[in-house]
Amino acid sequence: MAKSTIWERCLETRDYLQQRVPGFTPQIAVVLGSGLGGFGDRMSQEAVIPYEEIPHFKQVGVVGHSGNLIFGTVGGKKIVCQQGRYHYYEGHTIQEVVFPVRVMSALGAETLLVTNAAGGIDTSFNVGDIMMIRDHINFQGANPLMGTNEDAIGTRFPDMTYAYAPEYRVQVLGIAEEMNLEIREGIYLAVSGPSYETPAEINMFRTLGADAVGMSTVPEVIAANHRGMKCLGLSCISNAAAAEGAEKLDHTHVAEVIDKMSRQFESLVETWIERL
Ligand code: HPA
Repeated sequence: MAKSTIWERCLETRDYLQQRVPGFTPQIAVVLGSGLGGFGDRMSQEAVIPYEEIPHFKQVGVVGHSGNLIFGTVGGKKIVCQQGRYHYYEGHTIQEVVFPVRVMSALGAETLLVTNAAGGIDTSFNVGDIMMIRDHINFQGANPLMGTNEDAIGTRFPDMTYAYAPEYRVQVLGIAEEMNLEIREGIYLAVSGPSYETPAEINMFRTLGADAVGMSTVPEVIAANHRGMKCLGLSCISNAAAAEGAEKLDHTHVAEVIDKMSRQFESLVETWIERL
């Protein structure tokens, strides 16, 4: 039997999910970054499906719990939400990292909200700031569209001029202002990780025009644009990126900061979704 294509596998996964949650057509797909899983718990949930049960989703062996796909509503809108994402640094292929986004698109979602924790490169950023992503720089050394293009998924050379939908950015800035929430806007640079950056690397990234750095998001946004989805990206600035003489970076601290700011973040996102 011929090896199945990525899109055939997406459709098999879609069919399985449609059996689990009959009649559910999501409008919005959400990818929750580390520490931001609380949004998934606050949704009005119709189904919570562990990745382990989903055909073609990458199994994550010993560590056990890799994440959930949550179906539910927020502000009356139907949402499918990835609580937990695959990172390139975990050893997944770059195509595996974006498989869930393609499935959420196959389910009908035309909007993608991606979130993450990121290190601040812009020295005026404070820990705890929310940065809306205006644009990105792909420094991961990989692109999820590499390989034979499947025209059923999207075009060979997708345009990335408006990778982050300008109309969504205007909406979010307006909502933040109403909420009296000062948010930043900037360029997200994605590295593969998992080591944090050296001070020399951060200086280089600043020179390149990056405002924040992280280890995710860019593959998903490329795959979403390939599918013609409109994207919004939000980063939680969990730490100042490495600088000469600065404190060492520690993942536990990053997680604590995200936990503290997650409430504000969730209200911003919920309001935006309500108004979409
Ligand atoms: N660098 C890369 N990824 C990150 C950081 C950082 O400083 N903080 C949170 N994710």
